[in-house]
Amino acid sequence: MQTWLVTGGAGFIGANFVLAARRARLARIVNLDLLTYAGHLENLDGLKGDPDHVFVHGDIGDEMVVAQLLAEHHPQALVNFAAESHVDRSILGPQAFIQTNVVGTHTLLAAARIYWQGLDTGAQAAFRFLHVSTDEVYGTLGPRDPAFTEEHQYQPNSPYAASKAAADHLVRAYHHTYGLPTLTTNCSNNYGPYQHPEKLIPLMIQNARAGKPLPVYGDGQQVRDWLYVEDHCSAIRTVLAKGKPGETYNIGGNAERPNLTIVDTLCRLLDARFPAQAPHARLITHVADRPGHDRRYAINAAKIKRELGWEPAMTFEQGIERTVQWYLDNDKWSQAVSNPQHQEWLNRNYQQQGRSA
Ligand code: NAD
Ligand code: TYD
Repeated sequence: MQTWLVTGGAGFIGANFVLAARRARLARIVNLDLLTYAGHLENLDGLKGDPDHVFVHGDIGDEMVVAQLLAEHHPQALVNFAAESHVDRSILGPQAFIQTNVVGTHTLLAAARIYWQGLDTGAQAAFRFLHVSTDEVYGTLGPRDPAFTEEHQYQPNSPYAASKAAADHLVRAYHHTYGLPTLTTNCSNNYGPYQHPEKLIPLMIQNARAGKPLPVYGDGQQVRDWLYVEDHCSAIRTVLAKGKPGETYNIGGNAERPNLTIVDTLCRLLDARFPAQAPHARLITHVADRPGHDRRYAINAAKIKRELGWEPAMTFEQGIERTVQWYLDNDKWSQAVSNPQHQEWLNRNYQQQGRSA
């Protein structure tokens, strides 16, 4: 069995990836995570007692830790999910984004390069460094612009997007300059189980259940292309197995929806389950917009379909139904991750930003 060093595997997408990989016995996983506000060991409860999941509490920016893990575990792949991932947090405090997303990714690349150069020729050819990135590096689209292809110019607009763009460039440079067998994936907005409750979909479900306002930024007509998290994980597995080193692959859900439509959909699903509280849409509250808010993201995922045969298995309607049910069934998880840090964030982002909700 292969060994994969996964970073950020206690966060939303990383945990889904690790859980699915272990369920399918695909690889032994060494999981390096700093357990920031967004990382939760509860996400990995399903792996308790699994000898082929090794959790390591540490920082991707810690050169010694990364070098030691590579030397000790001899992984065939490194999959980098670790990041500061919330645009609103990057607006209020960009420094952590530069530290983890740029400096941390570079530390991983530098350590991986030394490790890879020490492998024999066969192991060198098989090794992969897969960097998980976002469609936000491409900037924003007008309503009728074609969706982002891999050739689209990088035009990041938020500190988050700029830090991910910088990391993507470093990954590209390590392939071009040193020959490190890298892969980069640029994915659209994910949703599904284990997403931290400050992101749009879990926040709206949690607030709606509590009878609290549903804070929609600006006019709510910003469009995102939504992908169910398990489909993102299957795309990453596909790129890892079949992707060509040095290439980048866009991943998307073919599910463009304005934010207000997302919130309306959640309200309808909750109305059906809790008719006494209907209509939940009465809780929708338009609040001050996000500064520099990108208007539209859309992914053209033709390359990964054509070259690697991947496409999403789940429609948005199936995925959102499952997601709502998961959050309702896992209220204990939501309570556990809604810690004092989470409350402090809600105060900073909504009250102190003059967002009345
Ligand atoms: P998340 O914020 O839920 O999880 C991030 C994880 O990284 C957490 O477990 C956190 O503890 C860990 N981490 C943060 N800094 C670290 C450090 N210095 N060292 C080690 N671990 C650290 O993020 P997510 O939504 O799961 O996103 C995962 C990756 O996918 C990110 O790179 C993000 O840019 C990318 N991405 C996310 C989306 C999305 O919609 N969520 C879409 C496209 C791409
Ligand atoms: P988010 O989940 O933060 O993802 P991103 O900004 O990376 O796409 O937000 C998704 C969309 O939802 C984005 O357009 C901002 C909007 N949004 C709200 O309208 N209200 C909220 O309270 C939050 C958290 C997000």
